[in-house]
Amino acid sequence: MAVDGRDPEVFRRFYDVKFGVRQEELEFPVGMGVEEARVLMSGEHADVRADGLGLVDGDTWLGVAWLDWWLVGNTDTVDVELAVAPEYRRQGVASRLLEVAIGRARADGRRIVSGTNLAGDPVTGESAGTAFARARGFEKKHAELHQVLELPVDVSGLEQPVDGYELVQWREQAPDEWLGQFVELLSGMSEDVPTGDRTDEPVQWTPELVRDAEARRVAQGRFTYTTAAVHIASGELAAYTQMGGTPESPGRLNQYDTYVRRTHRGNGLGIAVKAPNLRAIQTGPAVMHTWNAPENTPMIAVNAKLGFRAVAQRTMWERVL
Ligand SMILES: CC(C)(COP(=O)(O)OP(=O)(O)OC[C@H]1O[C@@H](n2cnc3c(N)ncnc32)[C@H](O)[C@@H]1OP(=O)(O)O)[C@@H](O)C(=O)NCCC(=O)NCCS
Repeated sequence: MAVDGRDPEVFRRFYDVKFGVRQEELEFPVGMGVEEARVLMSGEHADVRADGLGLVDGDTWLGVAWLDWWLVGNTDTVDVELAVAPEYRRQGVASRLLEVAIGRARADGRRIVSGTNLAGDPVTGESAGTAFARARGFEKKHAELHQVLELPVDVSGLEQPVDGYELVQWREQAPDEWLGQFVELLSGMSEDVPTGDRTDEPVQWTPELVRDAEARRVAQGRFTYTTAAVHIASGELAAYTQMGGTPESPGRLNQYDTYVRRTHRGNGLGIAVKAPNLRAIQTGPAVMHTWNAPENTPMIAVNAKLGFRAVAQRTMWERVL
């Protein structure tokens, strides 16, 4: 069955399988809430189109696939997330969903199917999903440590101003005066974030793409907190970090990007923006999630200082069609 998010009841059944599997396999289930996900799938966005497939027998949903069709950056790739209800595994459900997804990818002219296994063991990265991926001809391209931090935490000791820089903070929209430079930093992030051997075409951000992404997050019910550092002498926006969540899942917050412009690295700006952003966003008990390549040692060191610990390893896979 094709799923496009427009029928809330169909979407709820689809979502229940997708999120149910995450709850079953992850100590800290992560992902969008049902409405947040439905708005993403049913709406039109500048950077991605999402839709889904369900393998349904009568009234029973056996398994689902969520497909992300990138419209900027990796436009050769379709990203597929498969989830099969535990009682219907090892019966070829995921293989059938993958076959349909591949047929659609070919019809759309895509060259690569990619997927992420979220549930890998923190040390080995292995899971049912990695066994499936290997069996179906995918190659492992990258790994990221999933780290969590239980909030609230006292960050006052870590909030140290850096000489020559001042902080600016904003919520859902980047202020017009910073938009031009913020676009440069987002593009820098897309270029510099370690992606291992993944096929990765950096996104060239534009003010229009930023405004579109901001509007989508608001439509999804998300809130976003940004702290950036400005180099006072030059007026350059030197670093930023973003964290967010939704009232739909108040116990779960996400650390999104943290980026320091190349010419401003080595000055402690990573922690200088993260600590006050964390202070601003934390209102009570919640778990903050973040993912980083194990080789991204500076970022992992900053996270460890803040108290993050590793709980899983996610791995990214690709199959060339
Ligand atoms: C991974 C997952 C989607 C597989 O679904 P499935 O319907 O059981 O997969 P299939 O029956 O099509 O399996 C095809 C082949 O993959 C391999 N495989 C699948 N699960 C495996 C497991 N737990 N251990 C070892 N091999 C496995 C086998 O080679 C299998 O063929 P076989 O049963 O003839 O030996 C399912 O276990 C799941 O939902 N896991 C949690 C979510 C996840 O990891 N998703 C993948 C991320 S995109």
